[in-house]
Amino acid sequence: MAASPASSFSGAAETVWEAASAQLPDFSVEVLPEVDSTNSELMRRARAGQAAPVLLVAEHQRAGRGRMGREWQSRPGDSLTFSLGLPLAPEDWSGLSLAVGLSLADALHERILLKWPNDLWLDGRKLGGVLIETASVGDRRYVVVGVGLNLALPPAEGLATAPAALTELLPGITAPEALARVGGPLVRAVLRFGDAGFAPFRTGYEARDALRGRVVRVAPPAGAPATDDAVEGTASGIAANGALLVQTAVCIKEVSSSEVSVRPQA
Ligand code: BTN
Repeated sequence: MAASPASSFSGAAETVWEAASAQLPDFSVEVLPEVDSTNSELMRRARAGQAAPVLLVAEHQRAGRGRMGREWQSRPGDSLTFSLGLPLAPEDWSGLSLAVGLSLADALHERILLKWPNDLWLDGRKLGGVLIETASVGDRRYVVVGVGLNLALPPAEGLATAPAALTELLPGITAPEALARVGGPLVRAVLRFGDAGFAPFRTGYEARDALRGRVVRVAPPAGAPATDDAVEGTASGIAANGALLVQTAVCIKEVSSSEVSVRPQA
């Protein structure tokens, strides 16, 4: 049953629970008016031994986190922020963030593209992001899949590139409506990934690959100790394990670490 205080998310929580609980018997959907970060909250619970599958939505995050130690800023009503946590045991974890991005894009709109490895893109602008973390609970791995989606455009001051908003594609869509669309498909995609890995998602990903054919520069994130030189070349699709293929002047490089930043060149 969806465990949640009365909130604008109650109906959506019920929809997601109904869509997912048959496949996940102890599944619950929880809505918090406020939390530091839904990922941090589920990671704390996992480290305290709680391994039940849960989708945790926050109406407001005080300290949302993005990849590579970045902040994830969101304003109540203008964004959807939630995390899905569950025990998972895939043979190979590579490509999980791609499978997650694909399930979100498929559930939302045909025009959304995917920028390897974790971003949802609309017309070259970031519409959403995915932050995946794992913890050990006993002898199992517990995965936390955090999703942040922009629904309405925030003020763009200080941002190098203006973000995109889901309301550009789906005018008037609210955070609960967006959650109701993506929650069930996301649970199904993560469970499928646990059973079959990235393979069943590869073709779908390729159809939404925003980088293919673009000149990209793959580099360690700003401030990280540079262990490798940056790679520059043409993005040439995705390997079977979800690695980004980059055609350089001399060879095809497989980029598999998520600790890189990939920038399309103008
Ligand atoms: C990124 O693009 O860097 C990933 C952003 C992920 C943001 C979501 S919002 C819900 C969940 N809680 C967090 O603190 N982060 C993720």
